[in-house]
Amino acid sequence: MSNLQAITQQLFDLSGKVAAITGAARGIGAQTARTLASAGAAVAVLDVSASGEELAAEIVAAGGKAYFWKLDVTQEAEVQRVFAEIVARFGRLDALVNNAGIEGANVPTHQMSLEQWRAVMDVNVTGVFLCTKYAIPALQQAGGGSVVNVSSMYGLVGGPDVPAYHASKGAVRLMAKTDAMLYAAQDIRANSVHPGFIRTPLLEEAFQKLGDPELIFGQMKQMVPIGKIGDPQDIAAGILYLVSPAGRYVTGTELVIDGGYTAR
Ligand SMILES: NC(=O)c1ccc[n+]([C@@H]2O[C@H](COP(=O)([O-])OP(=O)(O)OC[C@H]3O[C@@H](n4cnc5c(N)ncnc54)[C@H](O)[C@@H]3O)[C@@H](O)[C@H]2O)c1
Repeated sequence: MSNLQAITQQLFDLSGKVAAITGAARGIGAQTARTLASAGAAVAVLDVSASGEELAAEIVAAGGKAYFWKLDVTQEAEVQRVFAEIVARFGRLDALVNNAGIEGANVPTHQMSLEQWRAVMDVNVTGVFLCTKYAIPALQQAGGGSVVNVSSMYGLVGGPDVPAYHASKGAVRLMAKTDAMLYAAQDIRANSVHPGFIRTPLLEEAFQKLGDPELIFGQMKQMVPIGKIGDPQDIAAGILYLVSPAGRYVTGTELVIDGGYTAR
């Protein structure tokens, strides 16, 4: 029995590893930070919101390793400095989870301003580029690693809303595939994760603007074959798989976690 348990433990063991997670103050990023820390990784909690400090403290209080850096992923000098500080503090970097993302303006394409378009592209695409750019040398130094771009099921299929968001999520899917090929020989893997409807502050805030969030969550459930709204843990589990030894042969792929929405 104990040998059997060792198989699972080794598959998901991140002891001695270091993972950086952007947009980790809340939602999917926060649960990913808890999950990777529970597998033994030291986690760099990165967020433009200072509340990431509380999450890092929570993980440390629970016996894990974490440190918070206030980081706006759109600012190259900040990204460069923070990734250097992560390596200086924890000694290495093994994984990057590009999770920070915003939904942006919900207006049709012909009414969207260039400023609205750029605001979404800056965070969701340029932010992924910048963090990957400054993480790769550290992953190379570590002898390999894993990059996970958090896309969306709406990076695979279209929807009649938030056009810049959909475009941005399509972009990071392909960025993962390109990086997968660029760095495969150095054992750096890159994949994308495609969440469906997940109950996080992002969706709650978006639905607050539209009316009664509970009513909208109820309507959304009916669009999902599995009949439920997802939980941040459902996505964090997929990210854990891609970051850990269990996913060591997985690169350039897309992990869809959407309750069957895109299976139609
Ligand atoms: N919730 C869903 O249903 C859903 C579905 C598909 C994809 N996603 C994607 O998952 C990721 C996380 O979403 P969530 O629902 O947890 O969102 P959220 O809004 O709850 O959390 C996003 C976090 O990103 C941070 N952030 C925003 N701009 C930033 C910047 N410039 N620099 C650093 N941090 C920044 C925010 O402060 C916040 O803490 C996003 O990329 C989102 O597009 C979410």
